[in-house]
Amino acid sequence: MASALATDFTNKIVYTDEVAEFSPEVVEEMKSHLVKYPPERKRSALIPLLFVVQRERGWIDNAGVNFLAKFLELEVTDVWETATFYSMFNLRKIGRHHIQICKTLSCKIMGEPEITEHICNKLNIHPGETTADGKFTVTLVECLGSCGTAPMMQIGFDYHEDLTTEKVDQILDSLK
Ligand code: FES
Repeated sequence: MASALATDFTNKIVYTDEVAEFSPEVVEEMKSHLVKYPPERKRSALIPLLFVVQRERGWIDNAGVNFLAKFLELEVTDVWETATFYSMFNLRKIGRHHIQICKTLSCKIMGEPEITEHICNKLNIHPGETTADGKFTVTLVECLGSCGTAPMMQIGFDYHEDLTTEKVDQILDSLK
């Protein structure tokens, strides 16, 4: 299968003035991150707060970014530049299981192309796409810092290393 990378979704973000709302409990959680940093360094809390927004809304959307900009007294572009830099933040709706396959040198040499092709054929999607049932999204990402156990992938917060096609089958079949 020819690999087609969907890298253009950041160009499809719709920018509006909508501001997300969160429950009082979630706002309290956000404040608990904020107090870890000096008042003049609120921006330092941005990454943990992006994780909270992603957990609550499923992805980093325009309304969530607007909320964080207000909450941290930042420009909206400050929030976007961090959210778009790290592959752990999803800028579009993703499937229940987010499969991030490392495509950097060690993994590439150790078999990433075969692993990617196997996964995509099995799920009938290309990298960057989500299965029709919304269960899986496949993304190719840069080095995940586990080069010694290449090829590897991350699903959710779990690393799966020393991959073979057989191992991939077992992992995917075990996911509900
Ligand atoms: S190259 Fe794949 S984890 Fe580093």
